[in-house]
Amino acid sequence: MLSREDNEIVTRVGPGTPMGRTMRMYWVPAILSSEIAEPDCAPVRVRLLGEDLVAFRDTEGKIGLLDEFCPHRRVSLFFGRNEECGLRCIYHGWKFDTKGQCLEMMNEPAEYDFSHKVQVAAYPTIELGGIVWAYMGPPSQMPAPPKFAWTQAAETHRHVTKVIQECNWLQALEGGIDTSHAPILHRLISETSTRGGFKPSSPFVRGKAPKLEIDVTDYGYQYAGVRPLGEDEIHARSYHFILPFHQIRPSKTPGGVSVDAGHIWVPMDDETCMVYNWNFSHTAPLADEDRLERHLGNGPLHVDPVTFRSKANRSNNYFLDREVQRTESYSGIDGINAQDRALQESMGPIVDRSKEHLGPADRAIIQARRLLRDAVRAVAAGEKPPGTGTSYYGLRAGEAVLPRDADWRQELPAAAELTTV
Ligand code: FES
Ligand SMILES: [Fe+2]
Repeated sequence: MLSREDNEIVTRVGPGTPMGRTMRMYWVPAILSSEIAEPDCAPVRVRLLGEDLVAFRDTEGKIGLLDEFCPHRRVSLFFGRNEECGLRCIYHGWKFDTKGQCLEMMNEPAEYDFSHKVQVAAYPTIELGGIVWAYMGPPSQMPAPPKFAWTQAAETHRHVTKVIQECNWLQALEGGIDTSHAPILHRLISETSTRGGFKPSSPFVRGKAPKLEIDVTDYGYQYAGVRPLGEDEIHARSYHFILPFHQIRPSKTPGGVSVDAGHIWVPMDDETCMVYNWNFSHTAPLADEDRLERHLGNGPLHVDPVTFRSKANRSNNYFLDREVQRTESYSGIDGINAQDRALQESMGPIVDRSKEHLGPADRAIIQARRLLRDAVRAVAAGEKPPGTGTSYYGLRAGEAVLPRDADWRQELPAAAELTTV
């Protein structure tokens, strides 16, 4: 559990809040690159860390991420025209470049034009791994670019999607780094079911309840859930938590290809987050079928490609089918991540952690909260928080059935070979 005061500190991310200041020390995913795919494309609204922004790609391909509201009379620049190297407000025709500098004022005679004195707030961006990342902190403290192993993979081998979730970012993150729920919530009870989930025969389900082993690192931690499997074996599945909101975990495509995978839980504001879902293959390119993410419920069949809202949502009880729940799957909800969203959103917009009863199976969650509070303290003391270096660049996670006495740290992949972009 957390005190109400600590719960406020770790969940609230608006400008000036302790966690808001901390999160602004990292590169933060703002939008998918595909949302502003072409030069001079339509601008898009971006809600990020409680701020309203607008993103556009100019004629030269440069990305602008500006305060949404025009500094003249505060209308939304979302309605603007993305013209030659600048976004023009359609109310009185003020035009801004990607750095936020005002270039022209259509409603003022040339002799009164004061455009050189006007700026709209603009954040620096970097494009990596199919995502536009923003840095919203003090310019002098900008960290190294977010070059994860997956952001450096070829597009043919990598897939990234995004889904908006109706709850605070931290309870979504905690659901993702909570290994003990996975073979329970995501369990199939029918071996022949073709739905997403873990079949009764899988070692993940056959294993007993896990013991969690956590190694704190300079980026966050790596940890594994170690499950006894019969007399002689264990099932071990490792994960990384990279501050402030990244996870790396092992996975498989529906076709059975092992991939590295993970999520990023990015706050839009205190009660809404964007969940980015990524995976990449070290071997074969991903197939079109893999990109549908049917088993997860994150792809174009399940999520509106314009609003990024899940079709299965609270208003329709996530299409929960009680007959499926009786005969096929624990949840009766289709899609592993749709199941996650259903339960994480069911906790309310911001869960009251003073009412929890945590056990040893929640150690990874407890550790993540501790590290986040340490990061908040570091930033308040004027220090750099963990995870702003480069030590996470090559991380991998893994999963295997191992002899009972094996050490998962030795046996599971821990690092990727990197090709620099
Ligand atoms: S409000 Fe934007 S130009 Fe006037
Ligand atoms: Fe889950």
